[in-house]
Amino acid sequence: MILNRLRLIRRAASAPGCSLCISLSKQLYCSSARRTRVRDALSSLETGSSIRIQGWVRSVRSQKNNLFLHVSDGSSLQPLQVVASSDLNTRELTFGCAVDIIGSLEKSPSKKQSVELQASHVKVIGECNPVDFPFKIKERHSLEYIRQYPHLRCRTNAFSSLLRIRSEATSAIHSYFRDNGFVQIHTPIITSNDCEGAGELFQVEVKNPHFFSVPSYLTVSGQLHLEVMAGAFPAVYTFGPTFRAENSQSRRHLAEFYMVEAEISFTESLEDLLKLMEDLLKTSTEHLLSHCAEDVELFHKYVSPGHRWGCDLQTEHEKFLVKHCGDVPVFVTDYPYDLKPFYARDNQDQPQHTAAAVDLLVPIVGELCGGSLREERPELLKTRLAGAGLEETYAWYLQLREFGSVPHGGFGMGFERYLQCVLGVDNIKDTIPFARSSRSCLL
Ligand code: 4AD
Repeated sequence: MILNRLRLIRRAASAPGCSLCISLSKQLYCSSARRTRVRDALSSLETGSSIRIQGWVRSVRSQKNNLFLHVSDGSSLQPLQVVASSDLNTRELTFGCAVDIIGSLEKSPSKKQSVELQASHVKVIGECNPVDFPFKIKERHSLEYIRQYPHLRCRTNAFSSLLRIRSEATSAIHSYFRDNGFVQIHTPIITSNDCEGAGELFQVEVKNPHFFSVPSYLTVSGQLHLEVMAGAFPAVYTFGPTFRAENSQSRRHLAEFYMVEAEISFTESLEDLLKLMEDLLKTSTEHLLSHCAEDVELFHKYVSPGHRWGCDLQTEHEKFLVKHCGDVPVFVTDYPYDLKPFYARDNQDQPQHTAAAVDLLVPIVGELCGGSLREERPELLKTRLAGAGLEETYAWYLQLREFGSVPHGGFGMGFERYLQCVLGVDNIKDTIPFARSSRSCLL
């Protein structure tokens, strides 16, 4: 099959005709023009070379002899300026249309950009009626406004910046774990465990009710699966979609969000977890700020101008704590034992009786990370599970304590809340490509 496909490709390449040119709807396009991303063109030192740009028009300005376009292709915040003879102007060349342009990359006489594309061919690939298009040229639309158009908002400067930042932050997090010897585990999305107490469950409905033979859910956390792996690897992580049917309209809850979760073995101290969380956050954020500086800067200007760190936190307690500590991230450790799920390690302290659990509170979002040491002592775990009537359901979890069990712990960090915190975004729905929440599942 693959060989056949390769043969076909080779035949097409050796078809009769000019090997240097390809035909694009009547107009001949010289294939010697390199297809170039706007970002690469902007930083190119090879002026005088013939290149080809494909993207979307961000502005059109027509003068007597010249036509000026700004073209973006999502690869950078800054568009590429295209200069063409006004003969190439057409009615279809409007804000938002898709274009395919060939020309020569030249040093720009203007101080606003170092290079510009002097176009010889401009072809409109997809028209865009500026009257119907919900975004208007030169207008700065609010995040609330563009949120109404989940199918189009990636065309705005603000949201395309967000998407680049999100992509870079994802890479930064994976790099952090790879560089620190963690093994990535693809924890399942469909599961039969409810990760006790982590949140409201979406149940999976299967046409054939006997398909799984047990009730199944969309995962609320990969923690228990990571704990399985922590019995064979000292450091594991997962970074994937997580689902919670929380009936919340708040600005920090989604029904589908991404969670970064890590689990480390041979650790008996909550301090190890705190260090890991802090290091992950610092390293990833440094990476993000150095690789996406322009986008982050735009977003900071864009979101609630004058937004002060620390305002609009969701609960009075979190707000108080973060403020009290000078509007910086704050670890809160050792929660009342009875408030925490069965797996949290008992500190066996008196009279408070706490569990070795930690939350990281940050300005703007409140809780960013939640984690704990896990109860590794079989007797204590058994008693707690039995007390909650869960001994049978979690028999497998208890068994993990019988075969080479080690003290371990981990945490989860909401990826969208992380972006909210770094960018100062008030509403979590502005940090994810397609937001899902109670009473809202557009597209
Ligand atoms: O504190 P949580 O519920 O912790 C757990 O699920 C643990 N099992 C994780 C672990 O130890 N491996 O959730 C972790 C983080 C929260 O601190 C928050 O940042 C985020 O996930 N989060 C949400 N983010 C967006 N929308 C929601 N509905 C969220 N619920 C939790």
